[in-house]
Amino acid sequence: VERLTVAGVTEVLIGAGLPTTLLPVRGDRRQVALLTQPPATSRALELAGMLRQEGLVTEVIGVPDRDEAKTLEVAASVYEALARMRLGRHDTVVGVGGGSVTDLAGFVAGTWLRGVEAVFFPTTYLASIDAAIGGKTGVNIGGKNLVGVFWHPTRVVIDTDGLARLPSSLVREGLAEAYKAGLVGDPALARLLAERGHEAPVTEVVSRALAVKAGLVSTDPTDRAERAFLNFGHTLGHAVEFASTLSHGESVAVGMVAASRISEARAGFGAADVVVATLTGLGLPTSVRGLDRSRVRDLVRLDKKRDQGGDRMVLLRDIGDPFVASVDEADVDLGLSSIGL
Ligand SMILES: NC(=O)c1ccc[n+]([C@@H]2O[C@H](COP(=O)([O-])OP(=O)(O)OC[C@H]3O[C@@H](n4cnc5c(N)ncnc54)[C@H](O)[C@@H]3O)[C@@H](O)[C@H]2O)c1
Ligand SMILES: [Zn+2]
Repeated sequence: VERLTVAGVTEVLIGAGLPTTLLPVRGDRRQVALLTQPPATSRALELAGMLRQEGLVTEVIGVPDRDEAKTLEVAASVYEALARMRLGRHDTVVGVGGGSVTDLAGFVAGTWLRGVEAVFFPTTYLASIDAAIGGKTGVNIGGKNLVGVFWHPTRVVIDTDGLARLPSSLVREGLAEAYKAGLVGDPALARLLAERGHEAPVTEVVSRALAVKAGLVSTDPTDRAERAFLNFGHTLGHAVEFASTLSHGESVAVGMVAASRISEARAGFGAADVVVATLTGLGLPTSVRGLDRSRVRDLVRLDKKRDQGGDRMVLLRDIGDPFVASVDEADVDLGLSSIGL
């Protein structure tokens, strides 16, 4: 089992199979509420069985799939379930599922009784390397993640066997974010994915990608500066995601191509071709077809306004050497052209 600490507060355990113990040892915990979504329910039931054997009163609370779970209505129904259980100050809310479940569970934990312990058992690649750590929680109201709190889990447990069994579309999404982590913070991880693609060992990919995020989160706990590097590929990526039917990870792959080409033109980034080849090798798209260029451009403008306060975007001087740059219309145009728009 590999261990990692994030921001001094979250203990991450990465290993193959179910952990022998899910929760940090603490004598005053009596109850546990496990939140889970349909495909992760059997996992949650197994974990609930373990917790009951430890003498903890444990309830499994099902929530809808994907972002259907991230609403105030669902949060309210979970609060009602916690009220029925009388979940107390020393008790624990566990999220078992993808990033939508960990975002919701973190939000509920951070607000119930003004904050109780959160623990996550992420079951997707994306949640394991991204959503479950860093303390950002939230629900959507119209816009994504508009309501939330910073609330770090005390522990995150990652089962790499479970990740290896995921449907390939979910693996590809995770690998897109893992490659992003390599590009902004770990050249050895970027090289590993470039050379071995899908054959890269899951444990190494996950622990390296996590370490990149953990490092940035620890230097920037409230997401004001360095953590922005994690948005590499996301400015154009979000626009593509909204305008197309591509998944988040696929859209970020396309966005990373655009950002790499802009980096090439603006900062002499020499590995844009490597980025394209690596993403292709991972089965990810590197261009889009049939989208309206001006629509995507408008979405880029909106995204930049919301996320980065103006015309800023993460670029690379080199693999592992990101910076935040001001970009203009010409840069965005070049990026759009580079992905076939
Ligand atoms: N808090 C953060 O810092 C952060 C960062 C990135 C993303 N996010 C959030 O994470 C969410 C996206 O993450 P995600 O893709 O993991 O979310 P998700 O929960 O929507 O999961 C994606 C799909 O995988 C399925 N799934 C989950 N476990 C499975 C399993 N064991 N086997 C088969 N299928 C399984 C889910 O049912 C769902 O259909 C978004 O809501 C996003 O906003 C948050
Ligand atoms: Zn992302």
